[in-house]
Amino acid sequence: MEQAYPHRAPHLRRMAIETTLILCKPDAVSRGLIGEIVSRIERRGYVISAMRMMQLDGARARTHYAEHAGKPFFDDLVSFITSGPLVALAVEGENAIDGCRQLIGATHPLQAAPGTLRADLAQSIGRNLAHGSDRPESAQRELGIFFKDSDYVSRRHDLERWIKD
Ligand code: RTP
Ligand code: MG
Repeated sequence: MEQAYPHRAPHLRRMAIETTLILCKPDAVSRGLIGEIVSRIERRGYVISAMRMMQLDGARARTHYAEHAGKPFFDDLVSFITSGPLVALAVEGENAIDGCRQLIGATHPLQAAPGTLRADLAQSIGRNLAHGSDRPESAQRELGIFFKDSDYVSRRHDLERWIKD
């Protein structure tokens, strides 16, 4: 977004450059699919500006999934996302929020379009491999749960190669 990138060339400041939070969930880590997920993101042309492997504690998991508090699947969701290590990525690109959601596919793998991560590699709604922020406000809130400002590197030169005015 424009104000976040004052250093960007004038024509790039107008682009809808977004940063989104992607999680390779514990099932993806356990199945050895970190590389597959990262590869799909990179092949699309998005760039990774922060990345870390960690295991979430319950408090942080409930904060991350706060919008689902009270839903019937909430406890299972928290227990799954805390069950093992995950990989968190800050991913940048033009319309990266919707673009990454498209690449991941619909929540239930059976409803996900062929060619998406979930359709290609997942079976069950509760083991659907990856998380992607769903809108700018969520991205900003969720990125703050996983990263501090000093965790980010600048990828602007790499990103500019992918963006056309
Ligand atoms: P995510 O947040 O993980 O990227 O997934 P999403 O936007 O596609 O789906 P969301 O509605 O935000 O749900 C978060 C995660 O909760 C699990 N879920 N289970 N059993 C159920 O009905 C149900 N509904 C959602 C899924 O693992 C989903 O990814
Ligand atoms: Mg969601």
